[in-house]
Parts: sequence; structure tokens; C-alpha cells
Amino acid sequence: MTDNKFYLTTPLYYTNANIHVGHAYTTVIADALARFKRLQGFEVCFLTGTDEHGQKVEQKAQKEGQEPRAFVDSIVGDIKEIWETLDISYDVFIRTTDAHHMAAVQSIFQRLYDQGDIYKSEYQGHYCVSCEAFWTERQLAAGLCPDCGRTVDWVTEESYFFRLSKYQDRLLKHLEENPSFILPLSRRNEMINNFLKPGLTDLCVSRTTHKWGIPVPFDDKHIIYVWLDALSNYITAIGYGWDEEQFAKFWPADLHLMGKEIVRFHAIIWPIILMALDLPLPKKVYGHGWLLFANDKMSKSKGNVVSPRELVAKYGSDALRYYLLKDIPFGSDGNFTHDLFVNRLNIDLANDLGNLLSRTVAMVERYFAGVLPAPVDVAREEQDGELKALACGARGLVEKEMENLQSGGALGAIMAVVSRANKYIDDNSPWILAKEGKKDRLATVLYNLADTLRIVGVLLLPFMPRTPGRMWAQLGLGPEHEALLTWELAQQPGVLPSGLMVKKGPAIFPRVDLSLTPNEQMAEPEVIRSPLTLEPPIAPVVAYNHFAQLDLRLVEIIAAEKVAKADKLLKLTVSLGSEVRTVVAGIAEHYRPEELVGRQVVIVANLESAKIRGIESQGMVLAASSGELLSLIEPARQGLALGSKVK
Ligand code: MSP
Repeated sequence: MTDNKFYLTTPLYYTNANIHVGHAYTTVIADALARFKRLQGFEVCFLTGTDEHGQKVEQKAQKEGQEPRAFVDSIVGDIKEIWETLDISYDVFIRTTDAHHMAAVQSIFQRLYDQGDIYKSEYQGHYCVSCEAFWTERQLAAGLCPDCGRTVDWVTEESYFFRLSKYQDRLLKHLEENPSFILPLSRRNEMINNFLKPGLTDLCVSRTTHKWGIPVPFDDKHIIYVWLDALSNYITAIGYGWDEEQFAKFWPADLHLMGKEIVRFHAIIWPIILMALDLPLPKKVYGHGWLLFANDKMSKSKGNVVSPRELVAKYGSDALRYYLLKDIPFGSDGNFTHDLFVNRLNIDLANDLGNLLSRTVAMVERYFAGVLPAPVDVAREEQDGELKALACGARGLVEKEMENLQSGGALGAIMAVVSRANKYIDDNSPWILAKEGKKDRLATVLYNLADTLRIVGVLLLPFMPRTPGRMWAQLGLGPEHEALLTWELAQQPGVLPSGLMVKKGPAIFPRVDLSLTPNEQMAEPEVIRSPLTLEPPIAPVVAYNHFAQLDLRLVEIIAAEKVAKADKLLKLTVSLGSEVRTVVAGIAEHYRPEELVGRQVVIVANLESAKIRGIESQGMVLAASSGELLSLIEPARQGLALGSKVK
């Protein structure tokens, strides 16, 4: 066993239905971690796969009029395709129908039987086919499966049992001596208090009611219980029973990742199987929260399933990965809604990251004919130093956050660099430096921006594998510059060679207009915003108290209609929370009335009222315009009270 290896696993996905974004969540997190560890120089084995046996699959295949094997083959094909679109970089994909797995599971069963850990008896109790789980009367919730809420079957069958009880004290001791074996701590406590302390009952590990599974080697009337079959994959996939050398290299697993509802299987049954086999236990079992859809668990039976395939086709895999990794706090439940996703995409990726790149590239093109200049003037150490320190310090923060599996924190540290770099542009106003002929300073500023983008790209690699390459291509970096784009150099400033030919490309994340239909969204032209025009020129300076006299307020448009015989005007009814007003706005050529209702905008609330086409307008809506384009000013975050003051 080398110290430099990292073996991590996702659960094996059931093949009774197609997977949804909730499943993708577990796998995307695992993938980000695998990529992160590889960048750090670890030899990674990232395992995922499919859990194909059991009564549920058999029933589903029957319903579809297919043989179980053909049925699971098509689902597995679909799952692999989805993982490909999401850039899941697994090293091993195991199917529980793989011959080497099936043979190894039989030998495990045989060994446990031979050593007396498995014995034959009769099972009487409840079984949930959907969760493939046995329940005692006491464990049921109002007579239903406590995990999924479905009805359970009463089963009486001759079965084989596994002596969990024999190992419970040893496991309890292990949990107490290794407080970070099960994380988060709330789940560890749940395992100890709800399962281990009350005492384990022996587990029924064979079924006679169906045929689709691995037969007990010495009694083929019985099929091995699907969880014993599936859990064993974590060792059979890497060589247990067929490649001892590889097995010794990677076992024990560094991390088993899974959703919270199946921690019980991984933190109790699986360690006991390993103890019985005399194998070391995994280092960590982490049970993450659920992705909720409108506050409910996403599941096929609830009909609220979001397909990752559609989201990827519409917005790209990196955008979906970013959202899952950034916005869902790891360990807790998180809400997935289309609007939250698109907002995050617009704010972080289109605005902050996309604009930083397009502005930087556009300025190098404009002021240095597309050739990245060398930094010349380093006089403004303070401001430059601050940007550089933040950029170079981000790698350490990413590492710290990822050690705790907090991808949201890691991405937060990277996006803080992006925000700082955007502010650096505003602080230095390169267009003014150009106007004033301060070429040396201009060169330094643009160089620092490009070098910051190099670092940001490297740090984003584990999370959004496609984006960095697209960023670097615009900065003029190709495969020949691979040696500069390493994790190692991500904490060193000034690595980019000057003289690179930058090349403006399409927006890396085009903004998505939520008011457009999906088809319109896909057809949206890519607009690269240029920072270089300041038209009209800035108006003369005013004292703060002049500005403070304006009372700007957040409102919601509750009705909108055209003003008769006026092509440019819309009559808007807006709510300030405590009052409703009418405002006439000259935006009819830019917005249709029906797309405005429900939007939040800003009005000047203390402007003297004016009669426009016979309508009294009690305020003015704020909008920005450039050339032909006009856009209302909307809040970047939702949740503010109507009538909130804007300043
Ligand atoms: N086949 C078992 C696991 C066997 S592992 C030896 C299983 N499969 S599953 O397909 O139902 O779930 C696989 C993973 O997807 C679990 O970690 C589960 O928590 C996760 N998720 C399924 N729906 C989810 C959400 N809505 N949100 C987050 N994770 C979800 O259980």
C-alpha cells in the first residue's frame, strides 16, 4: 500500500429507472474530489457503477416485457452516457452482473458460512422491495417503510442470516475510537444511538422469492441479498478475489461517499462484513444531504425528477457542475430550482468570470494589438500585491476546504479572486491609463489580469473541467504551455510568458434570460460586453447629499400594458409592498408587457409626478442602455422586501 493513493467510491446506482440530477449530485462531488486529488499528485482510483440485481429490477423488467439482463443493459448504457456528458472521470465502472464480481461475492458468502458467521434459519418480517431493506415491526413508520414511505411486504421464508450481533461491540468501539469514521457527526451519532446502542439483530442475507441475483454457492434455491452483493463491490472492483496485488494497493478505501439514507448500510453492515473477512475498514464514510426539488426529495415516484441530460444540453455540463458544487452545502439538504440554477449561472459565470475574461482579452487586443505585454511598472505594489496574494493564496484555501469536502467553500475562494480581479479593473481603469498614455502601468495591469486568469483556470479544473481550456485558449495558451498550467504553479505569480497572442472567442458562459423560452435561450446571440466605451461621458461631480435626496426603491411589477397610441410607452403597475403605484416607462420597444409581470426593478420613488399621455406617472423605472440595447436594472439576489431602499 502506498501513501500516495486515494481510493474513493460512489454508491452503485440502481438500474430499475433512469438516473436524475439527485444521483448526478453524488457522482459530481466524487468526480471533483477525484480530479482534485489527481492534481495534487495522488494515484487515484475513482469507482462507480451499477447495482443491478434484486426483486425490484426483476419486477420492473417483467413489467416492461424484457429479460432482466437486456433491461439493465439499456439502463447502464444510459447511465454511462450521462456520466460522459458530465465529464465523470471514473477509473473503474463495476456492474454487479460482472462475472468477477459475482464469483467473488459467492466466495465471500461461502467463507462467512464456513466460519459460522452465516447460518440458516427462518425469516419472518417486513420487506421493502423499493429499498431492498428488511424492517422490524418497531422500525416501521406508521406501518410503512421508514425510508421511502412505501408499503412493505410481510415475508416468511427460509433464509440465511449474518451474525451482525457478534460484531456490534467491536464496531461500536471502532466508532468511538475514530470519531471521523462517519461524517457528518450528526449521522455518526444517529448510527450509534439508533442502531448500535439498541443492539443489532442478525441480518437476513438471502431471498427465495426471486431469481435475478447471485445464487448462494451451496444452495441455489437462495439468492444472495442484494445489499451484501452490492456492498462487496467496493473490494471486488479493485481486485479482491482476482487481483490481490491491485487490491492491496488500493484497499482500504479512503472515502465512501453516499446519500444520507444509505449510511446505515455503509456504516454498519459493510464494516461488519469487512471485520468478518478480516479486512481493514474504510477510512471514512460520508453521508451527504439530499438535493431537494421545491423542498421535496427528487424521486421518480414523486414525478419531480429533473434530468441532467436536459440541463447539460441547455446550459453545458460545467454550469450544472458549478451549481451543484457551489450552491448545495455539502452534508445538508439543498434546494434545486431552475431559477436558482440560472441565477447562479448568470451572476457567477456569465457576469463575474465571463466578463473578467472577455474584458481582459478585449483590452489586450485593443491596447497591445493582441500581444500580452510584459509587466513594466510595478510601482503600485500595494494594489497589485493584494490581487496577487489573493490569487496565489486561493490554492491553499481550496485545499483546506476540499479536505473537508466543502466544494462550495473551495469555489467561493476561487470566485473571490475573480471578484477582486474585476475590482482591480475598475480601480485601475485601464481605458483612462490608455487615454493618458500610461503604457507601462497599462501593461502591468493587463499582465496581472491575464496571470490571475491562469491561476483561476487551474484552480477551477477539478470543478469545471471544460472551462479552463476555453479560458486559456482566449489567453493564447495551448498544449505547449502545459508545464505552466500546473497545480504547483497556481500559488506563484508572474508565470505567464509575455508575448502570448490573445484571441477573443465566444462568451464562455452566455447569459441566460429567464424570461425566454428554452429554445429562445439556446438561440441567444453571444454578446461580448466591451468595457472600452464610456458614452456618454461621466457627468460632472455632485455632492453626496444631492445623490442622497433621491429615494430609490425596489418594486415588483404587478401589471403592465401598452399605452394607446404611443409606440414606446408601457404603463406599469408596481408594488412597493405597502403601496401600489402607476409608472409610465419608455421601454415598449424593448420589453413585451407579459414578460414584465413578476419582475423586480428599481424606481425613483420621490420624483415629482408627471402626466404622460393622460396617465399620471408616480415614479421612474431605472434602466441601462447602450446603443440599441436597453435593460431594466434588476436585483442580483432574490428575497429582498419590496420597498427596500436602493443606494
Ligand atoms: N443501489 C443503492 C446503493 C448501493 S451501494 C453499494 C442505492 N442506489 S440509488 O440509485 O437509490 O442511490 C444512489 C445514490 O444517489 C445514493 O447516494 C443516494 O443518496 C443518491 N441520491 C438519489 N437521489 C438523491 C437526491 N435527490 N439527492 C441527493 N442524492 C440522491 O441506494
